[in-house]
Amino acid sequence: MGVINLTDHEGDIHQLEAQPGEKLMEVIRDAGFPIEAICGGEGACATCHVHVQSDWYDKLPKPDPKELDSVEVAMTFEPGMSRLSCQILFSDDLNGLNVTLANDDI
Ligand code: FES
Repeated sequence: MGVINLTDHEGDIHQLEAQPGEKLMEVIRDAGFPIEAICGGEGACATCHVHVQSDWYDKLPKPDPKELDSVEVAMTFEPGMSRLSCQILFSDDLNGLNVTLANDDI
């Protein structure tokens, strides 16, 4: 087990427990944070968009072309930070990962 540090829309930081193999989207959603994930984790809707702190971004497996196509249309897309949380599987290497909920409704 490990933790991720999630910054919410108010700027508050929360430590969430995560298990290896769990999708980051599920960790965030199951902890009660507002993440719609309307495609159910298929990488097609971008409603699970998060901003990954830049020093962590490069430690993640690279996004595949389908993920990039989806996330690039998000309102608050940031190159080098934006990822779909449903496409990130937690692992021991990601213990302490810092992510921020994207606010694409603004
Ligand atoms: S849940 Fe739809 S893209 Fe992640």
